[in-house]
Order: sequence, then C-alpha cells, then structure tokens
Amino acid sequence: MQLRSDQWYAGEDRNGYLHRAWMRRGTPADAFTGRPQIAIANTASDLTPCNAHLTEVARSVRDGVFEAGGIPLELPVVSLGETNVRPTAMLWRNMAAMAVEELLRANPIDAVVLLGGCDKTIPSLLMGAASVDLPAVVVPGGPMLTGTFRGKPLGCGTDVWRLSEEVRAGTLSQEQFIRSESAMIRSRGHCNTMGTASTMALVAEALGTVVPGVAGTPAPDSRLLEAAHGTGRLAVEMIATDRRPSTFLTKASFHNAIVALAAIGGSTNAVVHLLAIAGRLGVDLTIDDFDRIGSRVPVLVDLQPAGRFLMEDFHRAGGLLAVLREVRDLLDPSALTVTGAPLVDALEDAPIWDAEVIRPRTAPVVAEGGIAVLRGNLAPGGALIKPAAASPELLRHRGRAVVFDSIEDFHARIDDPDLDVDADSVLVLRGCGPKGYPGMPEVSNMPLPTKLLEQGVRDMVRICDGRMSGTAYGTVVLHVTPEAAAGGPLALVRTGDPIVLDVEARRIDIDIPADELASRTPNAATLAGFAAPRRGWERLYVDHVQQADTGADLDFLTGSSGSAVSRESH
Ligand code: FES
Ligand code: MG
Repeated sequence: MQLRSDQWYAGEDRNGYLHRAWMRRGTPADAFTGRPQIAIANTASDLTPCNAHLTEVARSVRDGVFEAGGIPLELPVVSLGETNVRPTAMLWRNMAAMAVEELLRANPIDAVVLLGGCDKTIPSLLMGAASVDLPAVVVPGGPMLTGTFRGKPLGCGTDVWRLSEEVRAGTLSQEQFIRSESAMIRSRGHCNTMGTASTMALVAEALGTVVPGVAGTPAPDSRLLEAAHGTGRLAVEMIATDRRPSTFLTKASFHNAIVALAAIGGSTNAVVHLLAIAGRLGVDLTIDDFDRIGSRVPVLVDLQPAGRFLMEDFHRAGGLLAVLREVRDLLDPSALTVTGAPLVDALEDAPIWDAEVIRPRTAPVVAEGGIAVLRGNLAPGGALIKPAAASPELLRHRGRAVVFDSIEDFHARIDDPDLDVDADSVLVLRGCGPKGYPGMPEVSNMPLPTKLLEQGVRDMVRICDGRMSGTAYGTVVLHVTPEAAAGGPLALVRTGDPIVLDVEARRIDIDIPADELASRTPNAATLAGFAAPRRGWERLYVDHVQQADTGADLDFLTGSSGSAVSRESH
C-alpha cells in the first residue's frame, strides 16, 4: 500500500535519510518503512482544564495504534479553554481550525485521531480535518462526574447562578459558596450539563466522526480509555479503506446530526459549528435545514440547563444511541460512520436504562424541540430561537425596543432605576456579532433589569446578534444576520420602535414604514460600539469573517485544499 508518509520517508537517497534519521530516536527499525503514521491531535492544556486529561487518553490511543501496526505521533494543537479565553473563545475557533489544517498537511502523517472536549475544540478539530481531508476520527474527552454539595448535585455553570442567588438571599454563606467550587468541578472532563461541549461531542457522534457509543462516556471512566485504545486501532484501519471525511460526511450525516441536536435539546452553538464544518466539506447545508429537519423532533433528554439530570446520568441511562433509537424513523439510514457501517446499524442494541433521564418517544420532555429560524426586516439573513427554552406566552409578542449599543452600554444602564423599561419591552443588544465584538460572544441572554426581577418578571423577549451559552435559557432571538456591524438593520433600531416577534410565522420585524427604515443610518454611538482592530489575528478575523448564517468561518477558509504538498523544504 502506498502511504502519504512515503513521500517523506521512502527511498535510499539523501531526502529519505533526512526525514527518517531525525525521527528515529529509538523507534523500531521498520517504523518509517510502510507503517501508517498516525497523528494524535491533542488539545490537552493546563489552561484548558476541561481537556487537561487528554494526555492520558492519548496514551491509550498510542497503544491501539502500535498494536495495529501504525506509528503514533502526538501533535499538540491550539487549545481553547472556554472559561479563560478572552474576549471569547469563538474568536479563536477559526484560528485553531486553520492551525490544525496546516499542521496536518505540512507533516508526514497518514491519518489523525482528534482529541477534544471543551466547547470550541471539537468544532475546530473537525473543521481543520475536513479541509485537509485525511482519514480522521474523534475521541471526545468526556464530561465531568456529577459533583454534589450539601446533598444536592451541582451542574456546571447552571448551578453557579443558583448558588450566587442563595448568597444574595442570605441562605448560603460566602465561605460555603467558595467551598462549592471544588464540588462543582469534581473531576477531570468538560461541563456535565447539556452545554456546548456535551452537545458537540454527541453531535460529532451523530455525524459519524466518533465510534458509535463512545461520546458522553465520562472523562474518568475506564471505558473512555478502552474506547481510545480501540479508536487508535481503527485509525490505522481507516487508511487501508481510505475513509476520509469527504468520503462519508454527506448531507445525510448532517441530517442525522440535526435530528440528534434536537432530540438531546442541545446548544444553539451547534448550528454555527455544523454550518462551518459543512462549509469545509462543500456540503450544501443551510440555516433553514435546522428548522426543516429539527423543529418537529421531540426532546427526549431531561438534562440541565433546561431539565434535571447531568451527563453522568445520561451515560448511565443509555447515552446517545438510546436517544437515536427512539427517533430512528427520522434518521437518514444511508449515513455512514468512521467504522464504515451505517450509523443506524449501531442502534439495534441500544436500550434506555432510565426512562426519567432519556424518555421514550411516547413520553417526550417537549413534543417539538429543535431550533426555529426567523426572518423579517430585522433579520433578512435569519435569526434563531429555541422555542423549547422560551416562555410560551412570549412566542408571539409586540413590545417597545430598549436598545443597547454594546455590552458595556448594557451593563451601565440596565439597572438604572430611571431606565424606561417594563415587562413588555424588548431588549435589543447589538455590536455582538462575529465582526462587531469581535468573535460573537455568548451575551444574547441578557440579564433582566433588577427592578423587573423584583416585580416577579422572569423572562422577556431579547434580541441580539451574538450567541448564548449552551447552559442558558429564555425567549432569546439570537445570531441575528446580518449583524449590526455588517450593515444589518439591527443597527437601525431605535429605543421606542415597536418590535414584533411571531415564532409560529417565523417572523421578527420592526413595525415601522419601510421608507422610514430605509432612510435611517446608524448613529455615532452605534458605530462606536463596533470593534475596529488595527493588527494581528483580530484584524484578519474582522476583515474576513462571514456571518452566522453560514457558520462564521473566514471567507478564505471555506472548502478544502486536500493533503497534497508538492514542494520539499530543502
Ligand atoms: Fe470547558 Fe464548559 S468550560 S466545557
Ligand atoms: Mg460556552
């Protein structure tokens, strides 16, 4: 079998010598003659605590690769820790994807095992792997174990808000609050709610890029290491059958990913990530596919933030395969996985072990889940809302806009006792899109004004060109496209304008005459809210980032360049 790495290592001449000699360092004599070279793209980092354990996972992958006759080569890649990285990890997703792509192409490797976990890591790995199009398989690092505090389970993120409210109410001491930190983050692994990390791991499996049944295995679980070992073996096998992303990631795979996203009640962030991955593969996926395919799918998983349980419960209850078995009729049976077999073949023996955590189709958590795509004169390119996370009475609403030009403007004024706002108002925040912030941060679920909270108001219609955390909730219209900083009409809204939301009709509009809207231009305060970086990655990003409706990738990164490199280094 001719290997890509032979282009570096084969031959008796000076070139082969140069490439082999520096790599030998104690490896078997035949390590570079016809043995598959498997990169292990590792996002382990002390500054990405959710992924720090991946070094141990990589050791199991190595064992599996060796066992199957390959040579494992660990490749540290750009890692993004969601809680640390400013201004938002999303600003760096495309940079991480670009670096993965270029490193895989530049090096003598034949296939890659992708190790990710924290929110942006699996998306960036998959984007890069799709563009270089070498055989690739993901091992998701897995969620943390459930922590408990004062007798109750703690969900990452979601319960921080609850505990801090208890401190404010005087029912929890400051000292106890701080003590709960190590109870919440009890073990290695990523967030254990159905946030973006859990969502992307499960969606990656539904896409076919993870060995079926592996995603959702808790990070400290022995079975994760067993799966990593098996995936190492599989990576070697994938070379012989030329199982590259472009050979099995089709529109059918994305169809199944959208069904899975809806059935697990997953994060809205998955929409931008899936669109970006599809863009790398040339798969014709649009924002409307999420509404068309996903919006009638029942939510079957009762996990925080919307529900009760956590990922450890989800895994115990049967995991993703048990969920997919319930919605099998909605899946596209033609979609294949990294194993070479159809995804649906993995559903034969996938029972639900706890019907409280994973509901049967006959008793869903929400009858129709998924994501609705809205359009109108406020979002000509589309905007998203997750109806299952919204208040039913607000799904059709008319209210006066209260507009904020930046997150700083929002924080400065939202609790001003004189702010003219009531429960029917619509909070509008702009300057938070890919270009405007830059990086499209998770700020769309704006906190409500304290004076309204004190009156018992628990939800309001909110509209923003940013994203929201996978652990958030509420009647939030987000990913408004085009964003204000890209010339979207969101930049033209003024405080007092009537805003009309109608989710059933899939509409979001400003109710002012068209000629008046057309005559408006953004005012100076609005323009001042948009980022204007002068140099570096932020400059490159702002100049080239596309809008959320196509995945917020850079314009020159969509598509694939394959793995060929024609020129030598010397
Ligand atoms: Fe890493 Fe939530 S902060 S997954
Ligand atoms: Mg997040």
